[in-house]
Amino acid sequence: MTYEEQIERLISISKKKPLLPESFVPWDVPVLQSESFLPDELISLHGLPEFDQLTPYQKREVSRHELVQVMYSYAWSESLLCLFLNRYILSLKTRQVEYRFLIRELIEEFRHQEMFAQAIEKLEGTALTPGRLQKIIAKFTVSMLPHDITFMCCLAIEMLADRYGDIVRKSPNIYPVVKKLLDLHGIEEARHILYTKLMLEKYTSKAGFIKRTVYSYTILLNIYFFRSFYVKEQIYQWSGIQNSRSIYKKASRNYKKNFGHSCLEDIIGFVTEIKGFNWATRWAWRVFLKASI
Ligand SMILES: [Fe+2]
Ligand SMILES: [Fe+2]
Repeated sequence: MTYEEQIERLISISKKKPLLPESFVPWDVPVLQSESFLPDELISLHGLPEFDQLTPYQKREVSRHELVQVMYSYAWSESLLCLFLNRYILSLKTRQVEYRFLIRELIEEFRHQEMFAQAIEKLEGTALTPGRLQKIIAKFTVSMLPHDITFMCCLAIEMLADRYGDIVRKSPNIYPVVKKLLDLHGIEEARHILYTKLMLEKYTSKAGFIKRTVYSYTILLNIYFFRSFYVKEQIYQWSGIQNSRSIYKKASRNYKKNFGHSCLEDIIGFVTEIKGFNWATRWAWRVFLKASI
């Protein structure tokens, strides 16, 4: 299949099989006491002795707040992506296949943002929003950086969301609203990821050592940046856990290790594919993301 044919196929699936969050997600299903929001392996304290000392209520509360953080950070990254894509499509012609695909992607990403916001409300969550510096960095990234770098940033977050969502939705006993929402997101993100990889091939196939190093660091920094939204001291206070400051420090270190182990597989696969691991990057992936490479 040619590049155009592959993208035409993605457009056609998006049009013929649209997944609407309002009908696809069973919003009215109440949450049962036996259901959880996150599998244990994704809870920040998992693996620490403190995890076993949590009451079932505290464990559930931590998982609820941490899932809210994850969903908020995806919705925020999607808003940024939309900002970038709206600017990017101005440079395309309306009959171009990229233009037509990106319009579909924008439609889907707007629906995702609404869906995540609704889910946060359903979970009665309060998202802890990014700080001033994080907002400045994010805005700079989507408005000033070259297109290939920005697409690489988007791809990093989409692959991360995809992997994380896969772990949650394939776990037993997850609250059905969360599971279905992640099913929907997984299906649509798979198309976005495929498109972004295809279009980036134009850049990665002819990239030399320096460009591959830049791409590798772009992905690394994005993952590092977004990982920082997941574990927050406030969550332990909200969940009624004593010594939240010291718990936060331990959990933060612990989560980095767990995250490196559970969430990086697909991303490492992609960076390997584009030959992004070399003497200049490999150490940083090990040190900053605890990647086993
Ligand atoms: Fe999305
Ligand atoms: Fe996406």
